[in-house]
Amino acid sequence: MNAATARARAHAALTDLRPQPDDIAADAIAGLTRSPRQLPSKYFYDAEGSRLFEAITRQPEYYLTRTELALLESTMPSIAQAVGPRLHVVEFGSGSGRKTELLLGGLEDTVAYTPIEISRTALMDSVTRLGQSFPDIEMLPVCADFTRTVPLPAAGQRPHRTLVFFPGSTLGNFDEADAVQLLTSMRGTMGDGGCALIGIDLDKDPAMIEAAYNDLAGVTAAFTLNLLARLNREIGSDFDLDGFHHHAVYSRERMRIETALVSDRAQTVTIGARSFAFAAGEALHVEISQKYTDASFAELAARAGLRVTHGWNDRTDAFGLRLLQPA
Ligand code: TRP
Repeated sequence: MNAATARARAHAALTDLRPQPDDIAADAIAGLTRSPRQLPSKYFYDAEGSRLFEAITRQPEYYLTRTELALLESTMPSIAQAVGPRLHVVEFGSGSGRKTELLLGGLEDTVAYTPIEISRTALMDSVTRLGQSFPDIEMLPVCADFTRTVPLPAAGQRPHRTLVFFPGSTLGNFDEADAVQLLTSMRGTMGDGGCALIGIDLDKDPAMIEAAYNDLAGVTAAFTLNLLARLNREIGSDFDLDGFHHHAVYSRERMRIETALVSDRAQTVTIGARSFAFAAGEALHVEISQKYTDASFAELAARAGLRVTHGWNDRTDAFGLRLLQPA
């Protein structure tokens, strides 16, 4: 460890709220028992899944990440003006990447940065990295489940307000009830004077959306199938990776991508003593990616006691950033 790394680590005092560890076997069995069958999407991101997701963000069809990055970069001056200086920035999930750097680099006199993340290693890696780029910002990582309101550690200097950052349209990967709960948890964490900056993918030409989740190189298909490979590795299931295929379609009615792994034939999957019979063509649901209009997003936020005060879209209205405040 070099001196800068050591200094960054020493400045990152961990608050450990000891989140319940995941029970992947119990969650998989519960999901496979439901009708229709489903698996929780949070299990996509093992080491291989995270690598494949990075590769998805570089596919020509996957417009989300590059559009949000360019939007954030071009609108940072306007965002900084809207939120004001001396913030305690809180990120839901561990931001170690470009988006967090753009945000922290563009805000004025940020007092503290708190990523909230369930994985201790991802959490500490993120503050170690960011601490080197932003030595004047106090790093206050919290290991916790961000779906419940997280009390923030006090910063050494008093911030003007708290800003919650949740990019990537990750909100859209939660079903409606869970998205409202997550926004409510943000509302609690930001406090009365706080605000939240959220990235949302916007409703648009279904062909463009579907292409993003069905890249020609097949990276997204490999990403979703890796979920089955991970289960085989970690809980001893016997999914035949050649017996399921990736299927992602846009429901115009529900304004969301619905991703499933579809069984190519009648087959039985076993996990220990349990067995699950799949019919030919039966879907195993693995992910939803909600898209929004201004109206649908404002309505969702309102259900969590939040209102949209500012919004920025890219030139093509493909992706948006929204600033929320307690209603
Ligand atoms: N948050 C990303 C999204 O909704 C995650 C993602 C990208 C994803 N491609 C996927 C999830 C394919 C499941 C399947 O766009």
